[in-house]
Amino acid sequence: MKGGGRQWTVVVASLVMVVVVLAAMPQTAQAKTATDPRLAVLASCLNAVKLTGVRPETCNKTVSDLVTVDVFEAMFNHRNDPTAHAQGFWTFDSFMDAAKIYEPLGFGSIGGLDIQNRELAAFFAHVAHSTSCGWSGAKDGPYAWGLCYNQELAPDQLYCKESLLYPCVPGVGYQGRGAFPIYWNYNYGPTGIALNADLLHHPEILTNNATLAFQAAVWFWMTPALTRPSPHQIMIGEWQPTKNDTLAHRLPGFGMTINVIAGDEECGHGEDPRMGDRIGTYQKFLTSWFGNVDPGENIDCGLQGVVPLAYAAI
Ligand SMILES: *[C@@H]1O[C@H](CO)[C@@H](O)[C@H](O)[C@H]1NC(C)=O
Ligand SMILES: *[C@@H]1O[C@H](CO)[C@@H](O)[C@H](O)[C@H]1NC(C)=O
Ligand SMILES: *[C@@H]1O[C@H](CO)[C@@H](O)[C@H](O)[C@H]1NC(C)=O
Repeated sequence: MKGGGRQWTVVVASLVMVVVVLAAMPQTAQAKTATDPRLAVLASCLNAVKLTGVRPETCNKTVSDLVTVDVFEAMFNHRNDPTAHAQGFWTFDSFMDAAKIYEPLGFGSIGGLDIQNRELAAFFAHVAHSTSCGWSGAKDGPYAWGLCYNQELAPDQLYCKESLLYPCVPGVGYQGRGAFPIYWNYNYGPTGIALNADLLHHPEILTNNATLAFQAAVWFWMTPALTRPSPHQIMIGEWQPTKNDTLAHRLPGFGMTINVIAGDEECGHGEDPRMGDRIGTYQKFLTSWFGNVDPGENIDCGLQGVVPLAYAAI
C-alpha cells in the first residue's frame, strides 16, 4: 500500500497543479458566472429548499441529492483503512459544507441531471486521482482508494519562490496539501485570499480542516484564469473552443479538464498512465455512483495541443 512508486505518482500529479493554481487569479468564480441566467433560477430553487426543506418538483436535483452520504462512503470506502495516510481526516460533512458555498454558483447544480452527474464525477475523479494510494491489484480495484492522502509525504524542499505578492514566511513549507493538492507560496497566497484563511502563515490549515481543504479544491474547480477556462466551465458546456483550440483538438469534454489541470505532463503525447487513471476513475464513478450516464465526448487529451504555458499567468 505504501509503494514508493505510487506515492511518487501522487506527488508528481500534484506538482502539476502548480501551473494551474498559479493561473487561477484570486478573482471569484462569482464575478465570472454571475451573468448566467440559469443561476437566478437556481437561486430560487435553493431558497425554496432552504425554506421548506423540500425540493420543488420543477427544480433540478441539488448536490446533496446526488452526493448522498452513501455515495460518498462508497466512493472513498478505503480512506479510513489503517494503511490510509489521512485516516479519519476526510468526512462527508466537510465535503458538503464546502460544496454548499459553491452550489449557488453552479457547482454540481446546473445544466440538468446528466451534466450535473458528469461534473460531480469529474470533480471527484480528479480528487481521487490526486489523493489515491490505489494500484491495479488493490482490493476493490485501483479507483477505490481516493482520499488516502491529504498532503505530500516527506517533501524535499520548501516550495518557496520569491514573490512580492505572496512572500514566503521563513521556515514554512508550501508542499502539496489538500484534495486538489496546492504547491508553492504563490498558489497558497491567492487560495488563502479566496478562502479568507492565512495560508501563507498557516498552510497546515489545509491538513487540519477538511472543510477548508475541500473548499480550496472546489474554489480551484470553479475559478477560470485569464487565458484558460475553469474545469467547471468545461464540464457544464459553458466553455466554447476558439478556432485555435479547435485546431489543437481542444474540444469540450473531460479531456480538456485534464489539460487545464495537468497540461503537458499528461496531455498531448498519446497514451499516458496518469491520464488513463483519471479517465478510468471518471468512468468508474459515473457508472457506479453518478447515474450511469455516458461520459460525453472527448474524454482524453492524448492528441490535444497542451494548454500553452501562456495560459498560466506566471
Ligand atoms: C433543469 O435542467 C434543465 C436542463 O436539463 C434546464 O433546462 C432547466 O431550466 C432546469 N430547471 C431549473 C429549475 O433549474
Ligand atoms: C474549519 O474552517 C471553517 C471555516 O473557517 C470553520 O467554520 C470550522 O469551524 C473549521 N473546522 C474545524 C474543525 O476547525
Ligand atoms: C492562435 O494561434 C496562433 C499560432 O500559434 C497565434 O499566433 C495566435 O496568436 C493565436 N490566437 C489566439 C487568439 O490565441
